Amino acid sequence: MDLELKDKVALVTAASKGIGRAVAHRLAAEAATVAVSSRDAGRVDAAIAEAGPVAGALSAHPADLSDPAATEALVPAVVAAHGRLDIAVLNTPGPRIAAFLDTTAQDWADAYDLLVRPVIQLARDAARQMVDQGGGSIVFLTSTWVRQPMAGGVLSAAMRSAVSATAKQMALELAPRGVRVNQLMPGATGTGRMESILSSKAKANGTSRDEELAKVVENIPLGRWAEPEEIADAVTFLVSPRSAFVTGSALAVDGGAIRSTF
Ligand SMILES: NC(=O)c1ccc[n+]([C@@H]2O[C@H](COP(=O)([O-])OP(=O)(O)OC[C@H]3O[C@@H](n4cnc5c(N)ncnc54)[C@H](OP(=O)(O)O)[C@@H]3O)[C@@H](O)[C@H]2O)c1
Repeated sequence: MDLELKDKVALVTAASKGIGRAVAHRLAAEAATVAVSSRDAGRVDAAIAEAGPVAGALSAHPADLSDPAATEALVPAVVAAHGRLDIAVLNTPGPRIAAFLDTTAQDWADAYDLLVRPVIQLARDAARQMVDQGGGSIVFLTSTWVRQPMAGGVLSAAMRSAVSATAKQMALELAPRGVRVNQLMPGATGTGRMESILSSKAKANGTSRDEELAKVVENIPLGRWAEPEEIADAVTFLVSPRSAFVTGSALAVDGGAIRSTF
């Protein structure tokens, strides 16, 4: 299936590692031009080099999402470099994993500054550009924790719920202007972040990494976690014209982990 992404210009944030990097590589493999962003310029360059034969389709746009000025400069920089913006995949780093009673006021402020404020800024800038161009597609990467709470996930669930509501609202308001807005909720995915969560849990519980992984996997009907490339495949479909009638949706890619019907 031709995803019709050739010559589209995409921005992917938090894209030097893990899920974001897989999305950037997958879009480049579909012949899109991809602006790769994350906090660390060296890691952005490494992620571009790791794209191998399609590295030429990727360009470096480092920006620390916790820095409002850097976030505000990002979409204008991509448009200045590539002339337009057709796709924005708004990924963020994860927040601190902490039980509700252990969270501090600073944790909540930090989580807002990393998971909500920059994403709303980028979504607004991207949507304005897309409206001016006559259309575009935005996907917010959130988490299944929005739908199915998990102990320790309160900062993630709360912040991403604000993003989910914004996505739905944007989809409504922007549909007549040609901009589609969707949300993808990854379930457990094999990335560096997931490995560090398993290590911390193993340390806290006096168990091994494999025992902690087994606890995660026992809640997943498909019996394993996702590879980042599997999340990227679904994102790539959602941003492509092949999903032209999909807007305001929240797609879980979670091996069946969410148990509710809706
Ligand atoms: N993995 C899972 O199981 C899973 C499941 C559901 C949801 N999620 C969510 O999906 C997102 C990505 O997760 P992941 O597992 O792919 O994480 P990851 O492998 O740790 O990658 C995180 C990315 O965020 C970038 N980053 C960190 N701080 C940043 C900052 N201040 N400004 C800009 N970029 C920054 C990192 O790059 P630099 O260090 O180069 O800046 C890296 O590219 C997270 O929000 C996570 O909570 C993950």
